[in-house]
Amino acid sequence: MTKSAFQTLTWIEEKRALRLLDQRRLPNEELFFECRDLQQVAKAIKTLAVRGAPAIGVAAAYGVVIGVQEETVGKDPFTAQKFNKIIDKLAATRPTAVNLFWALARMKKVGEEGLRKGFAEAKLRDLLLLEANLIYAEDDQAHHRLGKYGEKLIPAEARILTHCNAGALACAEYGTALGVIRAAQAAGKKIKVYADETRPLLQGSRLTTWELLKEKIPVTLICDNMAAHCMAKGMIDLVIVGADRIAANGDTANKIGTYSVALAAKAHNLPFYVAAPTSTIDFSLAQGSAIPIEERDPDEVRFFGERATAPSEVEVYNPAFDITPAALISAIITEKGVFTPAELSAIH
Ligand code: MRU
Repeated sequence: MTKSAFQTLTWIEEKRALRLLDQRRLPNEELFFECRDLQQVAKAIKTLAVRGAPAIGVAAAYGVVIGVQEETVGKDPFTAQKFNKIIDKLAATRPTAVNLFWALARMKKVGEEGLRKGFAEAKLRDLLLLEANLIYAEDDQAHHRLGKYGEKLIPAEARILTHCNAGALACAEYGTALGVIRAAQAAGKKIKVYADETRPLLQGSRLTTWELLKEKIPVTLICDNMAAHCMAKGMIDLVIVGADRIAANGDTANKIGTYSVALAAKAHNLPFYVAAPTSTIDFSLAQGSAIPIEERDPDEVRFFGERATAPSEVEVYNPAFDITPAALISAIITEKGVFTPAELSAIH
């Protein structure tokens, strides 16, 4: 399988640690750091050192392993109560991306089964590590598979707009929206990407452009408020974005600003695709209005990076995600195939 030019998350067994590429520092510094305790993993997810729905899920899975390791080093016997505290701490990091809860549910199942069978702590930890490795591998495979399905939707020459970062930085490897773009380029198609900068935290300008330049995929950076203008000028052929949570009816939560892009795409009659693994679909929620939307620190809006761009006392509203109604989505590209929102329930 094609490897990305960088490694977003790596488990280092000799050190019993999770190595992360610090996405807060990109594109200025390519720095890695190691998480050796649960608090470090939780903080890395909360502060967006690791971000993007699938990557959050994978990081949390390794976070459970780290939490269990920490509890079992020369301490009292490991209990279900301690295990649940680890899961709860990770679950409290970010509310919107369902991959976090999906991965934690898998880890919880393995942990609870081990505890029920009375496994020794070392064995329990090893079983949890196997599950985390499996979540990583499945994530990688799913994205390669969805890339192949999605690539077929891309014309031989295409100018593609994307929002936020749904690339290898947001996943174990490869990416969802950028996975489709990678697959299209690999299939010999002539691709040009327009990347929305993605205020307030600039995942588009800091991360998507960095990632695409590394992969030698042509990319042009635009401010968020330029997307509709570019569409009106005939500069865009289609839109592909990732997702943080997709409700059963296809309504999709993704980075704030996605909804405006979808409205603009509809107005200009352009296809609007969502690329996401099925682990991002939350069939327990009938529609998007039930998806919890994270609200973040107002200073993310009052500042542009380090620099204040608003009076410090001004009131701010800072939702990190919005909901794109299913009616604006042409198709959802998954590892199981391409579906219209109405067809989603068939894969439940
Ligand atoms: O706040 P972030 O950076 O975690 O938000 C990420 C996004 O909105 C991505 O588009 C989404 O998680 C899909 S990543 C494959």
